[in-house]
Amino acid sequence: MEFKHIPVMLNEVVEGLNIKKDGIYVDCTVGGGGHSFAIASKLTTGHLFAFDRDEDAIKKSKQTLKDFAGKVTLVKANYKEAPNILKTEFGIGKIDGFLIDLGVSSYQLDEGDRGFSFVHDGILDMRMDKNEETETARTVVNNYTYENLVKIFQTYGEEEFSRNIAKNIIKAREKEEIKTTFQLRDIVESSMPKKVVYSRGGASKKVFQALRIYVNKELDELDKLLESLIEMLSSDGRGCVLTFHSLEDRIVKNVFKFASTGCICPPRTPICICGHKAVAELVNRKPIIASEQEQKQNSRSTCAKLRILKKL
Ligand SMILES: C[S@@+](CC[C@H](N)C(=O)[O-])C[C@H]1O[C@@H](n2cnc3c(N)ncnc32)[C@H](O)[C@@H]1O
Repeated sequence: MEFKHIPVMLNEVVEGLNIKKDGIYVDCTVGGGGHSFAIASKLTTGHLFAFDRDEDAIKKSKQTLKDFAGKVTLVKANYKEAPNILKTEFGIGKIDGFLIDLGVSSYQLDEGDRGFSFVHDGILDMRMDKNEETETARTVVNNYTYENLVKIFQTYGEEEFSRNIAKNIIKAREKEEIKTTFQLRDIVESSMPKKVVYSRGGASKKVFQALRIYVNKELDELDKLLESLIEMLSSDGRGCVLTFHSLEDRIVKNVFKFASTGCICPPRTPICICGHKAVAELVNRKPIIASEQEQKQNSRSTCAKLRILKKL
């Protein structure tokens, strides 16, 4: 299948990174290589390290970035490992910018076999790294207790019908194993009022999102990764993060806020005793959203938020 992914807020990201042609840049989520292509195009003697945990993404971006041999290094790894890999394998301690474009690529959603989407029928898998021997969505749905399913749907999907959905999953799996995305979609849709199914536009979206985040441990250590990358930024270096739902955005917002805040003593403390100093500043107080035109052309961009940070 062809790898199709339109990079979200491409111009805003490139502008936000304020790319130096001799700088060292890190794309933590290379996907189809769209953002990386734009970054690499701006480099002369600089270098881009691009990571992804999905081997299909690495294969695709190898093609997309083939003209930048010597200027781009692709690494198949979880971005959690990026700071350590950069230091230990490449001797890189300082960087001039990083990009994290969270979530799934359109390719991952469109490829039925990966089991990410309720629009395409396929085996419920949802692992971004197919070689990792971790639990799949199928294992979770067929083995987790009612309480744990409710917790996953509520925490990572903010799904208001979590209890009903979990109850119906337990009932359905007593009859036969829930193997496919369409089986799950039908159970989810039968667990909510018809008018919600029709009005939501993708009624099972929240449950699928919740399972994907849980299976891939997407939010685990995102804060630590951001802290490490901010620490690695050289003075004037930039960090850009694109998020697609409130849980991700909250983490980014909090880490960026802490990095850009000076004293954190309780209000009315006469003299600062915390010693905390801002190491960065927010380039935009509010997150940037995609233009109306982009939102019309690329539905994925409608819920995207871009936050940009500049190291002091
Ligand atoms: C939204 S896509 C990136 C698209 C990319 N910016 C482009 O222009 O094509 C997100 C990518 O992040 C990858 N990803 C998600 N979590 C990851 C993680 N923990 N470590 C490495 N890659 C991850 C996914 O496999 C996916 O390819």
